[in-house]
Amino acid sequence: MSPAQPTGDPAPADGLLPASAGATAAERSLSLYVHVPYCTVRCGYCDFNTYAAEEFADGVGRLTYADDAVRELRFSASVLERSGAAGRPLHSVFFGGGTPTRLPAEDLARTLRTGVELFGLEEGAEVTTEANPDSVTREDLETLRDAGFTRVSFGMQSAVPRVLEVLDRTHTPANVPKVVDWAKELGLQTSVDLICGAPGETLEEWETSVRAAIGYAPDHISAYSLIVEPGTKLAAQIARGEHVPVDDDTQADMYQLGDELLSEAGYRWYEISNWSTGRATRSRHNLAYWRNQDWWGIGPGAHSHVGGVRWWNLKHPLPYANRLRDGVSPAAAREHLDAETRYTEEIMLGARIADGLPLERLRAPGREATGFLARQGLIEERALREGLVRLTLRGRLLGDAVVRELLAD
Ligand SMILES: C[S@@+](CC[C@H](N)C(=O)[O-])C[C@H]1O[C@@H](n2cnc3c(N)ncnc32)[C@H](O)[C@@H]1O
Ligand code: SF4
Repeated sequence: MSPAQPTGDPAPADGLLPASAGATAAERSLSLYVHVPYCTVRCGYCDFNTYAAEEFADGVGRLTYADDAVRELRFSASVLERSGAAGRPLHSVFFGGGTPTRLPAEDLARTLRTGVELFGLEEGAEVTTEANPDSVTREDLETLRDAGFTRVSFGMQSAVPRVLEVLDRTHTPANVPKVVDWAKELGLQTSVDLICGAPGETLEEWETSVRAAIGYAPDHISAYSLIVEPGTKLAAQIARGEHVPVDDDTQADMYQLGDELLSEAGYRWYEISNWSTGRATRSRHNLAYWRNQDWWGIGPGAHSHVGGVRWWNLKHPLPYANRLRDGVSPAAAREHLDAETRYTEEIMLGARIADGLPLERLRAPGREATGFLARQGLIEERALREGLVRLTLRGRLLGDAVVRELLAD
């Protein structure tokens, strides 16, 4: 089960973008996202578009996925060319899922190679794949490194077996340091993902997980608060009283403790849920999203954004593949972001990052609210004097409320 898609306008079969998208393309970087919609098992809390099935009909399945992804890559290059939005080497590439490493490493390598042949890569481009600690071998990582991947993000989630069980995670905690070490030995940058606030998780268990992640010394650590997504197995378990969600105060304590431990260990926050050892180890790909740049999302259900046009692909792998095999866009629908929506998104995303949101981007009521927000200890006084809105620790805990003030009219 995965969430409903937004409704939008019909997407043209030829994928062509309006002239406005091409006209301003040179002002933005272009990134590539490749969604791999396969997992060994579905975790009870996850509502990403992913399937445990191996194969559907018409020969569409896990082992033919790379062929269809390559078809969409060729299609994307042609659309950008015909829309006047080409000529930009890739700023970053991110293979996410699902579980990209459910595909043979050679399939990931071949998909990346096609993207690079079609678009080129910026100097120093970041090329990441997500990986589950139990679904990757040292040889796989070597194949990926040789193909041009520069970074691996491992789904650790927790170091505590009881918490992993609540989350339905199947991996063995001891595999995490092993795969992180392999990646480092191969010269790859590393990141680990943690989930904070699984039902029944205690502050001590959270501390154990954060300390374990720090102990593996990755370049980057993400810590996302668990979202109980409607329609998931976890949501049903909570509704039946089988699990009790962590309350907001405990979530806040966990965030503060996580930030404290990570800071002591030399990690710096650069986005509300992301910490890195320095500027060079921040995720360039995620920063491109938060800075509203362009990206093409390959794969079933993947979202794209080019020059104020956003579209999303058909969710199911079967119709997705069949459209591409017929030479037709796999987009389900698209929308043109109006000035108001673009402004709202710019403020919402910009306020989350530690580089700060330039004060001059705010409309007058939002600018006026900044004095009050600083007095409340929600944004930094010093940054404000330099013309930037940057959240304090307290502001990060109340990020949504800060954004509401910044968007006030
Ligand atoms: C969708 S997964 C894909 C990568 C890989 N399959 C994995 O699980 O690590 C990317 C990240 O999203 C996180 N995630 C998925 N559902 C979430 C939820 N409901 N709340 C918070 N984080 C979630 C996962 O824990 C994971 O680290
Ligand atoms: S392995 Fe990752 S993508 Fe797959 S179901 Fe679990 S959290 Fe979702």
